[in-house]
Amino acid sequence: MKIILIGFMGSGKTSVGIQLAKNLAYDFVDTDDLVSQAANMSIPMIFERHGETHFRELEIEVARSLRKRSNVVIATGGGMVINNLCIQYLTENKGRVLYLESSFREISERVAKQAVERPLFKDSSVALKLYEFRKQLYRQYSDNIIYTDEMTLGEVVSKALTLYEVHKI
Ligand code: S3P
Repeated sequence: MKIILIGFMGSGKTSVGIQLAKNLAYDFVDTDDLVSQAANMSIPMIFERHGETHFRELEIEVARSLRKRSNVVIATGGGMVINNLCIQYLTENKGRVLYLESSFREISERVAKQAVERPLFKDSSVALKLYEFRKQLYRQYSDNIIYTDEMTLGEVVSKALTLYEVHKI
């Protein structure tokens, strides 16, 4: 099986993904890391030098490269859902999609605390519009949803594990 974590920027996909993979003895992959490795530069640098369109092309290639993987937890970039080809690739080979849903208020607080630079979260009102639009897509593509507001990382991971209990070691 492969577990694909989707959700808005700052929803905890990477932190949850690392812990979930550890508990399931699965590999862990972060698509932002793979995009960054493919371009040999950071995500903000890709946006700055080559623009969002190029970044999205790289994201499609990364999703394609993960089609055949199994026993893996994949944390995706928040925009992976805007191209349904990416979701098609990622869900090949028994992919199960888990949406980590958080309120925009919670997300804003988390993003403000993180050192990560996010090209699409520079203006809060622009990010809110993106959040409202994307929320529908995340829900549409998910097999399961965990509402993470008021939950600790450990609680989210435990809840995710109960969803995939059959594979727990
Ligand atoms: C993006 C989310 C980012 C990263 C890029 C674009 C988006 O990943 O892929 O900055 O479009 O929502 P995170 O969701 O891990 O922050």
